[in-house]
Amino acid sequence: MDLNNIAKKMCAKGKGILAADESTGTIAKRFKSINVENIEKNRLGFRQTLFNSSAMKDCIGGVILFDETIRQKTTLGPTIPELITQQGAIPGIKVDKGAKQLAGSTDETITEGLDGLRERLKEYYDLGARFTKWRAVYKIDKNFPSAQSIKSNAHALARYAALVQEAKMVPIVEPEVLMDGDHNIMKCYTVTTDVLNECYNELELQKVDLKGTVLKPNMIIPGSECKDKSNALEIAKKTIECLKKNVPTDVPGIAFLSGGQSEIESTRNLNEINKINDTNFLITFSYGRGLQASALKEFGKNQNNIENIQKAFNHRAKMNGLSSKGEWAESLEKDSAA
Ligand code: 13P
Repeated sequence: MDLNNIAKKMCAKGKGILAADESTGTIAKRFKSINVENIEKNRLGFRQTLFNSSAMKDCIGGVILFDETIRQKTTLGPTIPELITQQGAIPGIKVDKGAKQLAGSTDETITEGLDGLRERLKEYYDLGARFTKWRAVYKIDKNFPSAQSIKSNAHALARYAALVQEAKMVPIVEPEVLMDGDHNIMKCYTVTTDVLNECYNELELQKVDLKGTVLKPNMIIPGSECKDKSNALEIAKKTIECLKKNVPTDVPGIAFLSGGQSEIESTRNLNEINKINDTNFLITFSYGRGLQASALKEFGKNQNNIENIQKAFNHRAKMNGLSSKGEWAESLEKDSAA
């Protein structure tokens, strides 16, 4: 499959991406919150339970894995990438090495992982990966994000994307403007505009073929501490406007991160965005917490109750699948809870 078709399959209408690529440190936090020991057996148990769920076939186009996971064999027989492929989804891999302190800036980060990336990509391709992810992080504060952070992270994202296409995989380009802080929705809009502009300047410079990429941005949303709450329609309008102005039309798919929104919020906002989507972009989800929070809770109650864990995951996958078409309604959440 060529890169453009892989990107379109990952973001096909009714489907989205499951971001199950929590690093060992991040999954440690998630497991701590449910009192589950962070050992390999439990990480595999949780993830293979999700990947074996029935909603995978209809609602999930791609799964982002962490280095440990892409190498694992399930207790069900197949390897993790084989299981995902059997479910009709494309296996992908997080290839960045995390956000590290940016020298010269007191409180900002640069995402690392370019050294040796060409060799690692070859190995991931052989393990079954057909797309990758790299996440840059930008914080909003009085003086942030700085031009230094915006330029350095865009440069790294673009060099990553060029290497990934050379290795015949689709790069997910993820510039995440964090929700933390008391800034209003317009501040998020202007910062995201600057960040996206710089990313697309650099992607062009590094000769990345945008038709073979997926953008994973934040929605345009007020900071989590902001007193002026926005409704879903306002978030949707500002988000679509920002994408139209700053994302080149060659990009086939845009898959949002949930970024700390609750499960229902992230579903509602995506639905509203798709209701008014008058672009040619396939717009969908690439959620970590937004897809897994309820399933994780069930896993914490009883790791062996596969049925309940999968029920929780199937429900969120279906709700977000509907949102990717603008066909979700709040009443469907209640129906299912009853
Ligand atoms: P969240 O949806 O939990 O923000 O995670 C998505 C992700 O992959 C962040 O890199």
